[in-house]
Amino acid sequence: MNYFKYEDNFLCVDGVKVCDLAKKYSTPLYIYSQKSIEDVFNAYNESIDIPHQVCYAVKANSNIAIIQTMSRLGAGFDIVSKGELARVIKAGGDPSKVMYSGVAKRVDEIEYALEMGIHCFNVESEPEMERINEIALKMEKKAPISIRVNPDVDAKTHPYISTGMKKNKFGVPIERAFALYKHAAELPGIEIIGIDCHIGSQLTELKPFSDALDRVLLLVKRLEESGISLKHIDMGGGLGVVYDQEVPPTPQEYMKLLQDKLSGYNLKLIIEPGRSLVANAGILVTQVQYLKKGELHDFAIVDAGMNDMIRPALYQAWMKIDVAERKNIESGVYDVVGPVCESSDFLGKDRSLPIEQGDYIVQFSAGAYGFSMSSTYNSRPMAAEILVNNGKDYMIRKRDTIDDLYRNEILPVQE
Ligand code: LLP
Repeated sequence: MNYFKYEDNFLCVDGVKVCDLAKKYSTPLYIYSQKSIEDVFNAYNESIDIPHQVCYAVKANSNIAIIQTMSRLGAGFDIVSKGELARVIKAGGDPSKVMYSGVAKRVDEIEYALEMGIHCFNVESEPEMERINEIALKMEKKAPISIRVNPDVDAKTHPYISTGMKKNKFGVPIERAFALYKHAAELPGIEIIGIDCHIGSQLTELKPFSDALDRVLLLVKRLEESGISLKHIDMGGGLGVVYDQEVPPTPQEYMKLLQDKLSGYNLKLIIEPGRSLVANAGILVTQVQYLKKGELHDFAIVDAGMNDMIRPALYQAWMKIDVAERKNIESGVYDVVGPVCESSDFLGKDRSLPIEQGDYIVQFSAGAYGFSMSSTYNSRPMAAEILVNNGKDYMIRKRDTIDDLYRNEILPVQE
């Protein structure tokens, strides 16, 4: 379902005109539809009847208002840093539903997570297991863990967002995982509770998920036979969304596959979706500053750059771009580029758009890995973010001020 629709030539979200929000809050501007998030969450949550927990991957969109929305729906959270855990807590999320992934957990981060009482550490290496054990013993606690196994499955996605192959830094190779479980079972600060895997992002087929799960379940059986029984299996995130012509499985199809494969196992299912919950709930609105004739292409120069949305520059990601108001003017073909001084600073190339200087245009599917990957490169203040629900708009992040740019910088007093 599409939550951003043209009504009388104006792009609207929940009945609110995008142009009006752009005028009210200025640009670049992220706008999110709460209803869209709720519907996808419920699609995941209500499509199976085995014990399960949906843990939203905070990195996809870390705004505390988005986290709060998820929390109210009953979500747990997948986090990868102390900062993400602090966000979850700030937003009223329940730390006892938090899974902590990530390859580089520092001592202070592990201490904080143990103190807050998270559900589980997804351990990504042998030395991390030792570190967690030592810290837990010092704190007189037992750390609940699962091992993130790397099943060596090709997720058939962009190499930068593929994580489950031998060449990737993530997880413990599945061949070494058994020995690490046996070792973990001996560690007094460790409580083994589950198994985890995450093979990549923007997957558009079920097969890699299914292959990964088969491999992980073989290990589960072997562990069971050797006296290590697990309470949960965490299949990570990764379900793709429609940016262009992709036909990804629906959350229901994906959940059904998992449910079918898990029948006969006494395991709670955990999943960590990020993108699929928020990507199509968000748009990035920007204003055309200039239309510039080029020798080879014409350029629509807009006020959102790669610092606001880096996906096209980083992954050559194609994201749909259209106007916020449909006018009866002729289309031109443009490379839609931003203000940043880099040739990779583009939102889209070769786009046919009926636009004039001053018009607002919209990049779709921008709710995931948009704002959360933004920066202030070129000393550009970070964008504002708006949540729309029931026809009302709520500012959920103020635009940075110029002062914010150098708030933490210090002019040294030198002799
Ligand atoms: N769990 C773990 C351990 C992860 O590393 C990730 C994403 C997720 C869950 C959520 O995956 P999702 O459902 O969003 O696919 N910036 C890239 C995507 C990076 C994904 C990183 N890990 C992009 O814009 O395409």
